[in-house]
Amino acid sequence: MNILIMGMGYVGVATALLLTELGWQVTGLDPNKSRIRTLSHGVLPFYEPGLDEMLRTHLASRRITFTSEIGQAIDDNEVIFLCVGTPSGSDGSADLQFIKEAAESIGKHMQGYRLIVIKSTVPVGTNEQVVQWINQAQPSAIPFDVVSNPEFLREGSALQDALEPDRIIIGSDNDQATELLRSLYKHVNGPVVVTKPKTAELIKYAANAFLASKISYMNELARLCTKMGVNIADVAVGIGMDHRIGPHFLRAGIGYGGSCFPKDIHALLFTAREHDVDLTILEKVVQVNQTQALYYMNIWEQLLGSFNGKTIAVLGISFKPDTDDIREAPAIGIISKLLENSAVIRVHDPIAKLPKSMLSKHLKQFDSVEKTVQNCDAVILCSEWKQYMTMDWEQLKRRLKQPYLFDGRNMLDGAQMTAQGYHYSGIGMSWTEIK
Ligand code: UDX
Repeated sequence: MNILIMGMGYVGVATALLLTELGWQVTGLDPNKSRIRTLSHGVLPFYEPGLDEMLRTHLASRRITFTSEIGQAIDDNEVIFLCVGTPSGSDGSADLQFIKEAAESIGKHMQGYRLIVIKSTVPVGTNEQVVQWINQAQPSAIPFDVVSNPEFLREGSALQDALEPDRIIIGSDNDQATELLRSLYKHVNGPVVVTKPKTAELIKYAANAFLASKISYMNELARLCTKMGVNIADVAVGIGMDHRIGPHFLRAGIGYGGSCFPKDIHALLFTAREHDVDLTILEKVVQVNQTQALYYMNIWEQLLGSFNGKTIAVLGISFKPDTDDIREAPAIGIISKLLENSAVIRVHDPIAKLPKSMLSKHLKQFDSVEKTVQNCDAVILCSEWKQYMTMDWEQLKRRLKQPYLFDGRNMLDGAQMTAQGYHYSGIGMSWTEIK
């Protein structure tokens, strides 16, 4: 079976490579010709461990090809995955323009039966909408099915998540279409849940919103821990051992970011408002996230006296480790706040780069941690890259003007850092004692 993947963004490329790995012949389609050229030369448009090697292997065996020729691609492939972007509109709703364009192209160009699989994160009811758009664009009626198959993979661990998913959700009204999609995943190690398309669409949003809620809950509790001299990480261990709670997504920090959580939660809130339902808890989840980094910056500012005129090293600008993605990254908010407070900022990240337009004489990015921290008054850790956890912090301290270490991800051992002479402060732990 030949498979077409429409949209060569993060989810599209990862899905294309997974399906190739499973033995299918795959074509990746994107209107962006330079992206297609880059992919055809074996270069990923983003950083993701393990995927670049997989891309080069499958290009060499010709199991995967890339194109911008939409008509031909729709004609050649029986199964079509929609992986195009669904960015946030100005009102927080998911913008379905790319989904609509893709559906209309399929309707226009299909010559025989097609199974259309919606992988993009789309609001409840989009599956029905796609059916209508395809119907309206068809010059004459040709059968097709549209199934919803949301994607749950995480940046930084796409390969493992795709090959061993916790579950595969298939939202379908048609048994034959369900079985066809199921057969594509037959070598994937994970349970399949078959449900209605609308349910599948909501499961994706509900999962992301629930995970974000866990994080915001711990982040808010961390503020109380800070006041009471209790360590939030110990609380997380204690509650996480209750199997009804589970140990994951309980890490307090400077907040969640990325291309999914913030966007998807806004889209879900928008959908709820459209249906006159208040998702009060979720509104608060967003509010806690938006204020979390600022809450701790206030504390750090008090410890330091002031940010004004100080030189601050910011380590880790990606929204989490093992990705070059800085979309909605808490580090970007922290940098803006420092600039507002007239600090000079020196930035490092193992992979991610600040856009050139952001750089100035007050904000510079360096390629080594040693250079970055030189003569700084404080270091703020914003994403927990392994490199930062294993560095020789004792050596680094000699380069600092003042040994203030603000750990926005609780990635270092506070007691050890304090013993090394740092004024260490993390998230959700006593700071008055350290002061
Ligand atoms: C998320 C979902 O996990 C994934 O299922 C979905 O398909 C896409 O959105 P991703 O955005 O790649 O994946 O990252 P994830 O690992 O979920 O982390 C999101 C954010 O939460 C990061 O900023 C991370 O630092 C933060 N986080 C995560 C915490 O602050 N604490 C935690 O305990 C876990």
